Amino acid sequence: MTDAAGAPWPPIDAARFRDVLGRFASGVTVVTAVTDEGPVGFTCQAFTSLSLDPPMVALAPGKQSTSWPKIAVAGSFCVNILADDQEELCRRFATPANERPDKFGDVEWRPATGGAPVLAGVLAWVACALMAAHDAGDHELVIGRVLDLGVGSGSPLLYYRGGFGRLAAGS
Ligand SMILES: Cc1cc2nc3c(=O)[nH]c(=O)nc-3n(C[C@H](O)[C@H](O)[C@H](O)COP(=O)(O)O)c2cc1C
Repeated sequence: MTDAAGAPWPPIDAARFRDVLGRFASGVTVVTAVTDEGPVGFTCQAFTSLSLDPPMVALAPGKQSTSWPKIAVAGSFCVNILADDQEELCRRFATPANERPDKFGDVEWRPATGGAPVLAGVLAWVACALMAAHDAGDHELVIGRVLDLGVGSGSPLLYYRGGFGRLAAGS
């Protein structure tokens, strides 16, 4: 692989990439959809607000995700922003669906506009229609048009340097 001038890209060590980028603290989401086989979902940190007018968000599903191709076929999805008491839910949805087909199990949810699951107890949620999916290395860069959105209650579950955290009391 070369850059526009034909020069090779500089090699970047994978461990260093993870160490540096892991210092970008974020919330954590579970991206859900309803398919012919029932509800599906996966934990996704790579999520961001993208455009206000028109309202759009972006997320990055890995090409190893077994749930994302089903969500893409569904055409609409819900980004569930997790609250700080939902670490177990975060870990549950970080298991590949082909290893744990009952990911939804006893999880309570209701359909958002477009039908995708809003999980009970989430801090906030954004229901989207799939607008575009761009190839991006070992991930896809997905753009969703916002159909509806809302807030729950509580504080965010945080993810930083491979571990979970919470806002300090009073913040
Ligand atoms: C905190 C956390 C953040 C994650 N962020 C992403 C992400 O942004 N994109 C992604 O594709 N996978 C991410 N994952 C990994 C997926 O959740 C994991 O690969 C999962 O098994 C995918 O499930 P699936 O195979 O059912 O799609 C994350 C996992 C954790 C624990």
